[in-house]
Amino acid sequence: MRIDIITIFPQMFEGPFSHSIVKRAVDKKRVEIFLHDLRDHTTDKHRSVDDYAYGGGAGMVMMIEPVDRCISILKAKHNYDDVIYLSPDGNLLNQPMANRLSLSKNLILLCGHYKGIDERIRKQLITKEVSIGNYVLSGGELAAAVLTDCIVRLLPGVLSDETSALSDSFQNNLVSPPVYTRPRNYKGYEVPEILLSGNDKKIDEWRHEQAVKRTEERRPGMLKDQ
Ligand code: ADE
Repeated sequence: MRIDIITIFPQMFEGPFSHSIVKRAVDKKRVEIFLHDLRDHTTDKHRSVDDYAYGGGAGMVMMIEPVDRCISILKAKHNYDDVIYLSPDGNLLNQPMANRLSLSKNLILLCGHYKGIDERIRKQLITKEVSIGNYVLSGGELAAAVLTDCIVRLLPGVLSDETSALSDSFQNNLVSPPVYTRPRNYKGYEVPEILLSGNDKKIDEWRHEQAVKRTEERRPGMLKDQ
């Protein structure tokens, strides 16, 4: 998979992409991630990417020209499954959406700023709008990093045990059951006996029961979706 991220803060991705699973995926060549500084696609000497809103009002608006120029350059070289705009009013990211996006070959992610982006970008250039939650971030960068992370970990060969993404919370509409590791007894807090029994069938049943119980308690709506 190839992911092109258009941003005015490419440095913001250095941390999230240079550790852990995303780094491993890049090292294993399961994904190529390219960061594009939107200011490199401006033509004025101030490298401006924003301007005042027509009709007045507070806040600047991201201009269409640099975005269009950058996307056109990318599209001339690659076919993209989607051009995604990260926006608080986009479709809420969930596991089924991440699963679907992980089947893409090439994606463009556009990170917005200021009061928003010129509506013509959304209408003409964007094919999907994604929100990572009902709250407002200072820009789309953190959202793009979250989206990239949850897609990339699903790519074949990225997680060492390929089944481990399948047993994640939210796959099969269940959150994960509780897990324990050594010591068996910590200050009187015991590991549930069943996990020490060696009976794989019983352990699987217990884990399933626990996952259902937790889902009922924490995400009751999710069970109804099944
Ligand atoms: N940009 C600002 N807030 C956002 C959010 N919650 N999700 C996606 N992009 C955003």
